Amino acid sequence: MRKTFLPFSKPSIQEWEIQAVADVLRSAWITTGPKNADFEVAFSRCTGAEFSIPMTSETAVMQVLARAFDLKPGDEVITPSMTWVSQPNVICLNGAMPVFVDCDRDTLMITADRIEAAITPRTRLIVPVHFAGGVLELDKIRAVAAKYGVPLIEDAAHALGAEFKGERIGKRGNVMFSFHPIKNITTGEGGMFATDDKALADRVRSLKFHGLGVDAYDRQTHGRAPQAQVVEPGFKFNMPDMQAVLGITQLKRLDEMNAQRGAISNLYRQRLSEIEELTPLARPAYDYKDSYHLMVVRLDPDKAGMSRDEFMAALKALNIGTGLHFRCVHGQKYYREKFHIPAGMLANTEWNSERILSLPMFPGMTEEDVNDVIDACKQILSGK
Ligand SMILES: Cc1ncc(COP(=O)(O)O)c(C=O)c1O
Repeated sequence: MRKTFLPFSKPSIQEWEIQAVADVLRSAWITTGPKNADFEVAFSRCTGAEFSIPMTSETAVMQVLARAFDLKPGDEVITPSMTWVSQPNVICLNGAMPVFVDCDRDTLMITADRIEAAITPRTRLIVPVHFAGGVLELDKIRAVAAKYGVPLIEDAAHALGAEFKGERIGKRGNVMFSFHPIKNITTGEGGMFATDDKALADRVRSLKFHGLGVDAYDRQTHGRAPQAQVVEPGFKFNMPDMQAVLGITQLKRLDEMNAQRGAISNLYRQRLSEIEELTPLARPAYDYKDSYHLMVVRLDPDKAGMSRDEFMAALKALNIGTGLHFRCVHGQKYYREKFHIPAGMLANTEWNSERILSLPMFPGMTEEDVNDVIDACKQILSGK
């Protein structure tokens, strides 16, 4: 058994990055300022996005977009139930209805066919999720969105650095990213909206900062016009510079950190082939580049003779941390009571929701760490 606890995730922040944050703290400007402007440039260079707008979280990005797209009661938003609760919650907070679409059983992503089948005259947005490091089949999903004239907003919380057919996620369309501490880069908390739509970018910039019709920081004036007036009521979701500077330093290390994640993932996949009770996610067959965000496996409870929750508890007792991405949204109290989705309607989502867990995955994990995880799994499953 491991002597020390192996967490399921750990941010990778080096001394020079801490120094960069300290420099901002010692400077005269700690809220949205020059480091935000530099972060936008660096992010656009990394993803190819025309406009990159930092905010306090991806959930905040979704709230701003709900406003920008005028989401209102009676509207429907097509999205997976196999996701984090943040975006369905924002949909509900705006009085609209999440229309949950079942995911593929082995990639945990929703597909163009299933999205098309869920479209009605009330569909206002399509919000699919690039899952765990895998990438949605974007050309088909874009074609469905275009066919019905419904805006597509990609949830790329897990997909920074990932690519579809040679193009980075974020280069095209409307894409949301998260910088929560378990993500591929972190700013403590934080999010980014990437878009190629200038009018939408201008509106989002204004909405993220009180609806003042200006950004929280203007590069030319090194501040913002004090005379700015409210054009429409907006939010207060601008990112402080002490976080933006961390975004800049982390972005410099993105490729290196994703490569480390990739090596860990390959090692896991080799070793997991020795354990018949655990199955990793399938890799999509189309041309894409993974971001290796999470190492999700499914436990076969019949073969294991125990539930997923019991297995996670047993791993914890052996000093191995795990995560759960995700407990299906429609199975959670509020959604169960409000939407009454019959059992079996989202069969793949429910099947996985009972079986998935995320094994430790973060840059800096060693081969020995992976071996410890595999040994612990084997020990539990052999009943010794
Ligand atoms: C798929 C997905 N979407 C959205 C979010 C929300 O991101 P944030 O925590 O930055 O609001 C997360 C965060 O965990 C996520 O995993």
